[in-house]
Amino acid sequence: MGKLRLGINVDHVATVRNARGGDHPCPVRAASLVAEAGGDGVTAHLREDRRHIRDRDIERIKDECGLPLNFEMAATEEMVAIARRVRPHACCLVPERREERTTEHGLDVVRAESLLKTVTERLADAGIRVSLFVDPDPRQLEAAARLGAPVVELHTGTYCEKTGTARETELARIRAAAERCVELGLECHAGHGLDYATVGPIAAMPAIAELNIGHFLIGEAIFVGFAASIGRMRAAMDDARAGASTP
Ligand code: PXP
Repeated sequence: MGKLRLGINVDHVATVRNARGGDHPCPVRAASLVAEAGGDGVTAHLREDRRHIRDRDIERIKDECGLPLNFEMAATEEMVAIARRVRPHACCLVPERREERTTEHGLDVVRAESLLKTVTERLADAGIRVSLFVDPDPRQLEAAARLGAPVVELHTGTYCEKTGTARETELARIRAAAERCVELGLECHAGHGLDYATVGPIAAMPAIAELNIGHFLIGEAIFVGFAASIGRMRAAMDDARAGASTP
C-alpha cells in the first residue's frame, strides 16, 4: 500500500486575514510551513467571490511554498484562464454556489460531462493534472473516467456529519467508490470535514492516495500551533494506514 499523501487547505488562514482587511495571517506563510510539518501539498480554493484566497495568494503559493499546489476552482472561463496562466500541479474542479458556506456536494459529472470534458482537456493541455470533486456515487466515477479525468476526489462531508449507523453506511459507500476508482483506473483522493476522529477509517482505505484537509486543522492551530495540528493529523493517518496493512 502506497504512502497516503496529505494536502493542507489554507483557505481559512485567508478567511481570518480578510476579517480585518490587512496582510495577517498570511496564507502563503502557512503554505510555506506545510512541508516541514509533514504535509505533502498545499490546496487553495479561489472562489468567484474571493471570500478567502485571492489571485495574488494563488500566484505566490505556486511560486514560493515549494510544494505541489492543488488549485481548487469552479469550471468557469475565468478560472480556466487563471489556471492556464499560473500552471499549478493540479486543479480540482468543484461546484460553486455563492450562497453556500462551503462546497456542500460533489460535481454532477453525469449532467455536465461535455463541459467538464472540455475544461479537463484545456487544463491537461497546459500540463495540469485534473481531479473532479464528486460524491461517492459510481455513476459519477464512471462519467469522470469516460471524460478522461485522471483523478477524482471523494466528498467525505456526509460521512463526517453523520453518526452511528448512518455514518457506517456512508463509510461503506466511500469504500465501494474508492475500490471502483481503482477498477476504472482513476486515482482516488478524498476530503471535506475530516478531523482527528473521522480520518482513521478513511486513511485505512488502501485505494485512497491523498487526503485534503483544511478547516479543522486551521481551527486546531489556534490551540496547538499550525505545525503541531498537521503533525498530529499526519500521525493519525499513518497509524490508520499501518493498522490496515497489518494482517
Ligand atoms: N477538498 C475539497 C474539494 C474542498 O472543497 C475542501 C473544502 O474547501 C476540502 C477538501 C477541505 O475541506 P475541509 O476544509 O472541511 O477540511
